[in-house]
Amino acid sequence: MVNNDNQILVIFGASGDLTARKLIPAIYNLYKKKYLPEKYAIVGVGRSAYDNDTFRKKAVFENEHLKKKGDESLDEFAQLVHYHSMDTSDAEDYKKLADRLYSIDGYHGTNCNAIFYLSVPPSLYSVIPKHLASVGLNKETNGWTRVIIEKPFGYDLKSAQELNKSLLEDYHENQIYRIDHYLGKETVQNLLVTRFSNSIFEPLWNRNYIHRVEITSAESVGVEKRGGYYDGSGAMRDMVQNHLLQLIGLVAMEPPVKSDAHSIRNEKLKVFQSLRPMTKDDIRNDVVRGQYLASTIKGESVKGYREEEGVNPESRTETFVALKFFIDNWRWAGVPFYIRSGKKLPTRVSEVVIHFKPNHHHLFMNQTEVNAQNMLVIRIQPDEGILIKFGMKVPGAGFQVKNVNMDFQYADLTDAYVPDAYERLLLDCMQGDATLYARGDSVEAAWEFIDPILKAWQEDPAIPIYGYPAGTWGPENVDDLIEGKNMAWRYPCKNLADDGIFCEL
Ligand code: BG6
Repeated sequence: MVNNDNQILVIFGASGDLTARKLIPAIYNLYKKKYLPEKYAIVGVGRSAYDNDTFRKKAVFENEHLKKKGDESLDEFAQLVHYHSMDTSDAEDYKKLADRLYSIDGYHGTNCNAIFYLSVPPSLYSVIPKHLASVGLNKETNGWTRVIIEKPFGYDLKSAQELNKSLLEDYHENQIYRIDHYLGKETVQNLLVTRFSNSIFEPLWNRNYIHRVEITSAESVGVEKRGGYYDGSGAMRDMVQNHLLQLIGLVAMEPPVKSDAHSIRNEKLKVFQSLRPMTKDDIRNDVVRGQYLASTIKGESVKGYREEEGVNPESRTETFVALKFFIDNWRWAGVPFYIRSGKKLPTRVSEVVIHFKPNHHHLFMNQTEVNAQNMLVIRIQPDEGILIKFGMKVPGAGFQVKNVNMDFQYADLTDAYVPDAYERLLLDCMQGDATLYARGDSVEAAWEFIDPILKAWQEDPAIPIYGYPAGTWGPENVDDLIEGKNMAWRYPCKNLADDGIFCEL
């Protein structure tokens, strides 16, 4: 049993998809692993007029995302779950919520320690915390209070600043947990360990040895049922401003003094502050946006983005974005960073690729700029692992060089349980550890970099948005972003080590 404080988790947006798909399963797994404190309660809050039993049925017994087969303790877990129906925009309702929590608190003896999880539309991100504060639920008089805010944190720099300001009027920064589920991924955290626990990588991790850094986050799915949300967001806001810049933060940061929240988040902030602002010309030349078009994938016709439910038929929202940019600091001066993210690409894959500089003198006959390069691939998902590419002699006469792979896959750790990102992040918040949550200043710094790009797209209709057939790797001109003779994006496969042309997608 982990020594966590007794506490309540209040989930706003209890009947939403995230609650069923991620939050309840994460808590259930923590329960199974005996990570929950002795006294614990979950209170789902929503508009629907459910009673406890109806909600328990929905959230627990009939929840297909819970791996509950043969679990005899399911009833016991369900008893931790409560439901409170209210109108979150009505100030009066919060008094009743407070009373309800006090009564559950009294019942479970949770010492008034509470996490409020906002799994609600962003328009409520400042409304709910304000109302909670108006009835004193922000106070840490008898216990602690933490608020978890889902992404997107702001729509642009201004709205992110306003949201931070509004939250900080009633809460201290250490009560605010801005969630970015990428930081909860085991492989993302392993970036820090790869860099800072191995003496072979860190000495090379700079402009002297690294030619370029490439990050891909590809999804094979389209916008599915989220067209309404996505059309007002786009890939830049949905993936780049948060998840992918967070990855950049970990890849590019200086070694922190300690492995605590303060030190790690300080170093990440410095990276975001060093991102070279993009000029209008940079935006035109170094950013490519695209939108998927109808096509046929594996013999099946698929819709184009503009035909998706909830999407404006004349939409100019990007479902793909690729950009090249620089980090102006001592370590990274002159090293290009490339990011690419999109929906309806050939496969689902996220990875960080470190391309090392080619050696300067090609001793062997068949060595070229390209095959004299070493590559380190950190696979975030799927087939999680790490791959190093290096040159080896082809057996036989002469000195022919061939690039070969050396790889490690998490799947080889047969007894290792890899927790879901939400499980890790919720546990951290329960323990008051904000290391893997985004701090307010760094969210704003990330927006500062992204904002001019979004503005340029909005204000300059001459900046094109290119179509790409669903199931391909994005607009054709994306390859032009990568400088260097014969240099190209890595086209990854589902399996980490199979990266030939005939890979399985
Ligand atoms: C979410 C985005 O934050 O991340 C989605 O809103 C995206 O559009 C998802 O599909 C990707 O997450 P993962 O963990 O599947 O890579």
